[in-house]
Amino acid sequence: MARSFTDQTDIFSDETVLYDSWTPEKLPERETELDDLHDALAPVARGASPHNTFVYGKTGQGKTVGVTYKLEDLRAFADDNDIDLSVVRYSCAKDNTSYQVASNLVAELSGEKPRGYDKKTVFDRLYDNLQALGETVIIVLDEIDSIGTDDDILYELPRARANGHLEDMWVSVIGISNDFEFRDNLSPKVKDTLCDEEIHFAPYDARELRSILSRRVEKAFKNDVLSEDVIPLCAAMAAQDKGSARQAIRYLYKAGELASNSGEELVTEDHVREAEAVIERKSIERGIRDLTTQDHLALTAIVSLEVDGETPARTKQVYAKYTEITTHVGAESIAMRRVRDHLQDLNLAGVVNAMERNEGIQGGQHYLFELGADLRTTIDVLQENERLGDVMDRITA
Ligand SMILES: Nc1ncnc2c1ncn2[C@@H]1O[C@H](COP(=O)(O)OP(=O)(O)OP(=O)(O)O)[C@@H](O)[C@H]1O
Ligand SMILES: [Mg+2]
Repeated sequence: MARSFTDQTDIFSDETVLYDSWTPEKLPERETELDDLHDALAPVARGASPHNTFVYGKTGQGKTVGVTYKLEDLRAFADDNDIDLSVVRYSCAKDNTSYQVASNLVAELSGEKPRGYDKKTVFDRLYDNLQALGETVIIVLDEIDSIGTDDDILYELPRARANGHLEDMWVSVIGISNDFEFRDNLSPKVKDTLCDEEIHFAPYDARELRSILSRRVEKAFKNDVLSEDVIPLCAAMAAQDKGSARQAIRYLYKAGELASNSGEELVTEDHVREAEAVIERKSIERGIRDLTTQDHLALTAIVSLEVDGETPARTKQVYAKYTEITTHVGAESIAMRRVRDHLQDLNLAGVVNAMERNEGIQGGQHYLFELGADLRTTIDVLQENERLGDVMDRITA
């Protein structure tokens, strides 16, 4: 029978509150971190330059929202006290180099993207544009890990005045990253300049996630439409995984949608469990959708080892399983070194966990791999790949 849009139940009072982009009014779970940020920005109120700050922590920990919140505070203070302050916020997610960040910042500030210039010219343009902004400029570079080791913008900007590129003004940088390796691998020069202050956003625990969710529920849902275990369960599941507020909110939203779409008046624990399954599946699908057949074969090898309880496994072990599988399906086998690269791609996609091990002179440095996603769901998703033939059935038999 055709479905009618009138069949759904009206359990939300304002579901936009559950969007990732919705900005909460307060962040009591981040009081300590925001206090540290406050101290880093406090020199502005004294007519001086804020400290360069590096904010880091895993995904969904309120880094972006926390920094935005504190800077709005500072903005209001500056307006009330006639302080000449400019805040430039920029996400580096799509950039791979300092050059790209600099040229996109110029585009943002001047409305015109510099094309075909060398790095020095682009940086000069950036300084010209910053000079025009005024006395104190704070540049927030979010998702800064995208630039990898090409990180010189992170010391060029904080040092712009000292190096004579700017006059009578201050530029400070707040870098935000969710990649711990990026922080560890920053060049010593950058560490020296950018990391005056380092603020770590530690993963939320279940109690904190419950309080974050409760505040959203009040605004997002009508009264009494959530059974009492819904919030604790969303919080517990997210806490067990990455401690991400984003993930906890996603579980809650999806559970609400599932209840509403099936015409039910109450969101229950079952909806939350179903929501988790749907979200996990989507994230695996998204993680491997754009990957190659070789990636899928490497993943199949990991799945097979996982089923046999042989993970975490070293590259050699994964490779042996991999060649067994490629022989079976009649696919081309590639060299072990390249299979390791594919495993790293899967690691980036969040489907596989790669762990670095250093076992002294004898063991040397090597990687251990294991499945990072839910086993059952990964098998389901891989089963849809026809090239893998009956391999999945054999693995699970
Ligand atoms: N303490 C909190 N109270 C209310 N909502 C929060 C809190 N912390 C995070 N959130 C919400 O969780 C979601 C993720 O937060 P945010 O985008 O700031 O994470 P992030 O640390 O920047 O993650 P990423 O590294 O992935 O960019 C947002 O919707 C945000 O509003
Ligand atoms: Mg962020």
